[in-house]
Amino acid sequence: MLFNRFLCTSFLLFLFFLFGCASSATLPTQEVEAFKVALTTLKKTNVAFNEDPCEGSSSGSESSTINRWKDVVTCDCSFASGTICHVTKIRLKENNLQGSLPKEFVGLTFLQEIDLSRNYLNGSIPPEWGVLPLVNISLLGNRLTGPIPKEIGNIKTLTSLVLEANELSGELPSELGNLPNIKQMFIQASGLVGPIPISIDSLAELKDLRISDLNGPESSFPPLKNMKKMETL
Ligand SMILES: *[C@@H]1O[C@H](CO)[C@@H](O)[C@H](O)[C@H]1NC(C)=O
Ligand SMILES: *[C@@H]1O[C@H](CO)[C@@H](O)[C@H](O)[C@H]1NC(C)=O
Repeated sequence: MLFNRFLCTSFLLFLFFLFGCASSATLPTQEVEAFKVALTTLKKTNVAFNEDPCEGSSSGSESSTINRWKDVVTCDCSFASGTICHVTKIRLKENNLQGSLPKEFVGLTFLQEIDLSRNYLNGSIPPEWGVLPLVNISLLGNRLTGPIPKEIGNIKTLTSLVLEANELSGELPSELGNLPNIKQMFIQASGLVGPIPISIDSLAELKDLRISDLNGPESSFPPLKNMKKMETL
């Protein structure tokens, strides 16, 4: 009887062990591909990640960050009972990246944060990013040119948009006033032309706004009456 119970317990432990080993979560192939192509576009050569950047994340975990020197990729591995991961954050700050911004990030359909601050990235901001559920975008301190795509105004989840210290040009899109959750917006480039869209006055969550070096006759701030949460101006 005692022996039986022992056998039974061992068997259960064995099953538990098997299940535990077999349950490692994976990133869908399409995301692995998108990530790989995106790294190529950025010209990231010293790749610190595995082909599947979520490999090694704890399965089932809502957020598991793989942090190798200045390379940070966060994966959410809680999908499909903890068997599927999605990339949620990519931070490659101060990486000496000399490529351009990958439109392929669109393949990472759960991406919430892109932080590529202080690199040497050139080219323009891909309008394609407008379909992503982004919360934070920082492209601070690169060599980006071209306009701010109006599609940025489609990212309703966006809370922080930092585009300072680039060489952007063109008119400020009035669609920037369509971001209901935006808290922080830093935009500065002498190639950008005002006016500052009056639509930003309707941004109820905006706390911190910095728009400077605009050109054009109407480049000063419009009368802002509704920005209740504004802390600095
Ligand atoms: C966005 O940035 C804020 C401030 O750095 C941070 O607290 C928050 O966790 C970020 N959210 C995401 C989804 O990356
Ligand atoms: C970006 O820089 C590379 C050289 O580093 C150059 O070959 C390429 O033409 C530049 N692209 C743009 C859009 O300026």
